[in-house]
Amino acid sequence: MRSPVETAEKFLPEERAVEALRRAAAGCTACPLHETGTQTVFGEGPETAVVMMVGEQPGDSEDLSGRPFVGPAGRLLDQALVQAGIDRSRVYVTNAVKHFKWEARGKRRLHSKPNAREIEACLPWLKAEIEAVSPKVIVCLGATAAQALLGKDFRVTRQRGSFVQSAYAPYVTATVHPSSILRSRGDREAEIARLVEDLRKVADLLD
Ligand code: URA
Ligand code: SF4
Repeated sequence: MRSPVETAEKFLPEERAVEALRRAAAGCTACPLHETGTQTVFGEGPETAVVMMVGEQPGDSEDLSGRPFVGPAGRLLDQALVQAGIDRSRVYVTNAVKHFKWEARGKRRLHSKPNAREIEACLPWLKAEIEAVSPKVIVCLGATAAQALLGKDFRVTRQRGSFVQSAYAPYVTATVHPSSILRSRGDREAEIARLVEDLRKVADLLD
């Protein structure tokens, strides 16, 4: 048996509006990633958002700026949202894990995948964001977000684009992470088209 995971639960404030959560999360030290990341990168977007996009963790640019999805992956996501016909002003973006985990490779900081304990430690923040925003649709971007919200048996490659029964929101789905498309050596245009196709199913649910 593994020892119980210390989670962010005890850092949650009494007030649960997004701004109060953001302030509290800035001081979270529930897992070792607060030491590697520059700052907590909390979610961003209107509290009235109908769609919540959940990524993995902040990347290099997000770590430095303190804002989610502002780097290359964010630009690809924005482009895909436009193509799918989803108004960005109706979208809240966040991550399963809120500190950047990286390894030094020369002078570069290379993304390193958060492990199950880190995902579990950070989950109270994501759950509190979901409660505060109460989106109609949640889109997990990639396996880490899917693991956090849909369990470890969810397979993005097989189940992408399908909607699953979940207590988190009326509609919950998963697709690939835009970073995986940027890293891919395959047909990038085709992969972007598939991402857009998955997001069109989300657009169909919005009025
Ligand atoms: N990748 C993510 O998962 N989240 C970000 O905010 C940026 C890149
Ligand atoms: Fe807290 Fe999440 Fe940062 Fe870990 S990654 S210290 S749980 S905010």
